[in-house]
Amino acid sequence: MAYLSPSLLACNFFELEKNLEILKNKGIKYLHLDVMDGNFVPNISFGSAVIKQIRQKYPEFILDCHLMVNKPEDIIDEIINAGADIITFHPEATFHPHRVIQTVHKAGKKCGLALNPSTGLECCKYIIDDLDIILVMSVNPGFGGQSFIESQYIKLKDTRKMIDLSERDIILEVDGGVKTSNVDKVLESGADLIVSGSDVFNENIESQLDIYNQKLK
Ligand code: DX5
Ligand code: ZN
Repeated sequence: MAYLSPSLLACNFFELEKNLEILKNKGIKYLHLDVMDGNFVPNISFGSAVIKQIRQKYPEFILDCHLMVNKPEDIIDEIINAGADIITFHPEATFHPHRVIQTVHKAGKKCGLALNPSTGLECCKYIIDDLDIILVMSVNPGFGGQSFIESQYIKLKDTRKMIDLSERDIILEVDGGVKTSNVDKVLESGADLIVSGSDVFNENIESQLDIYNQKLK
């Protein structure tokens, strides 16, 4: 079974509550929260204050926090205390990815590596037993509304193989440029947690969610 993790980056924040109610009523379980520092990526989004407010109002969502920040170790405690359930970070953003994973696990939360389009799977090889999630970035991180990079279908398939060989229950997440028009191919490539931002939060949120719910069954 695959799940949708709508990215709030594309949500109109003046209508945040209304949109979260729609997601809840449509049975959405995950929320993808993109934290950007204007340093690891050339954009700034939101941080722990926003995550905390969402957590307090909506305890039912699984908060899937994608950290696009340098030195994630500096903000992990803050993000976890705000209510994150899942932390993914980029291995290039820290000297000690394994230590970051240990920190997240000590707090009892799930942890994943987010791989840029050009980043290989080798960085997962020797720490696969410690990973709960591998996130394949199908766009360069930093902005919503970009086009899916076609080469990442092969990477999804390779990652799926690696996960299956490990015989561990690792979630394969995909993030960037996923739309109702290409989600079938993304699912066929082995992804089981599907991030979508701009394609969900358009003028027809409800009908978009119906299409995703249908396809992700
Ligand atoms: C991009 C973010 C994504 C983004 C996806 O750096 O990590 O989560 O919000 O947006 P869409 O679905 O519009 O590509
Ligand atoms: Zn993201």
